[in-house]
Amino acid sequence: MIQNPLFNSNKLKLGIFGTNGKGGAQTLVPEAYKPTWENAVHTAQFADRAGFEAIVAYARWKGYMRGRPEHASGIVLDPFTFSAGISQVTSYSTVFATSHAPSFHPLAVAKQCATIDIMSKGRFALNVVGGWNKPELEMFGAPLKEHDKRYDHLEEWLKIVKKLWAEVEEFDFEGDFYQVKEGMSMPKPLQQSPSIPIMSAGGSPRGRRFACEHADMCFVMLRSDDLASCKKQIDEYKDYAMTEFGRKVQVWTYAPVVQRETRKAAEDYLRYFAVDKADNESVDAWTAGLREQTQIMSKEELLEFRTRFAAGAGGSILLGTADDIANTLEMYSEAGLDGALLTWVDFADGINRFTGDVLPMLERRNLRRPFDAASRPGA
Ligand SMILES: Cc1cc2nc3c(=O)[nH]c(=O)nc-3n(C[C@H](O)[C@H](O)[C@H](O)COP(=O)(O)O)c2cc1C
Repeated sequence: MIQNPLFNSNKLKLGIFGTNGKGGAQTLVPEAYKPTWENAVHTAQFADRAGFEAIVAYARWKGYMRGRPEHASGIVLDPFTFSAGISQVTSYSTVFATSHAPSFHPLAVAKQCATIDIMSKGRFALNVVGGWNKPELEMFGAPLKEHDKRYDHLEEWLKIVKKLWAEVEEFDFEGDFYQVKEGMSMPKPLQQSPSIPIMSAGGSPRGRRFACEHADMCFVMLRSDDLASCKKQIDEYKDYAMTEFGRKVQVWTYAPVVQRETRKAAEDYLRYFAVDKADNESVDAWTAGLREQTQIMSKEELLEFRTRFAAGAGGSILLGTADDIANTLEMYSEAGLDGALLTWVDFADGINRFTGDVLPMLERRNLRRPFDAASRPGA
């Protein structure tokens, strides 16, 4: 039987996010990550050898800087072919692709996912998103739907994808968005009961309902570093999933990491890359898009979190020494968090520091078991 690492016994799971594009930071510093294949493989192999559970590739068809096709926000490798390739140079981490509903027909997605699941020996997972970047979806001739309607569409889309993964008999499907005649897809994914894990990062009330009803991993943007408020935010998802849908979900967050030998050096570096050298035009365009199209945070928070956006797409910043970072992660875990997707300005340098210093601390605190790369399956 296949055991996807997302369901291993580590109390706090870890992943990397966004190495098929620029990662999360919106900065002009020269060391900022660039999505060459060499960089992507190097980073993925680092994460894989350290026993990280997740490598998540995002979906972006067009950048959010109008009239700037070469801006870093739009230079993003296709997440499906990316995760297929990454699965061939790793052997432990789960590889994730991301899809919107309007960009791929469920028949195409079901088969692509099954193929990557087979190629990766059952290490694939799917991130499903409603979408917010209007110009990218307009390229498909599919105007961005009203916010909550995007999730209705996604719900029907996912229902068909899951039927195609599970059902051997052909089926007809008549919905509001799709009609499928004698639908089938072969071969099936390796992962069956449970099937390919689903991730969803909806932050609005409708997005949260969708995630709690359909996803295995829900994402929360933590708003403070205070145990009680983190716990409240996390419990909201877990309790809602259980009471409304009788489901147990994992709750993850995403966080840029700024780790240095002293807290002061980390704060100085954060100011350097995310304030002095912030890509302000990019932060403005991104914030405007989120404000218009999502309900992830209030207009006041969108202004207040500007440094967080420049540092890494709004995630709560893990800042300071290795010890500071381990303390914050331990607090998140105490608050009930199951996992964190991490980003760095310079992934190669960052993951090296993190796995060297923070990871052993997390192991000593029993948040993770020491990972023995040599004894894992397939090594
Ligand atoms: C970890 C994470 C990954 C995301 N990946 C994508 C992505 O690949 N493509 C995309 O268009 N949106 C992505 N989003 C945006 C969300 O899907 C969603 O639109 C946003 O969190 C706002 O929530 P809402 O749609 O419920 O208002 C991501 C968000 C998070 C937190």
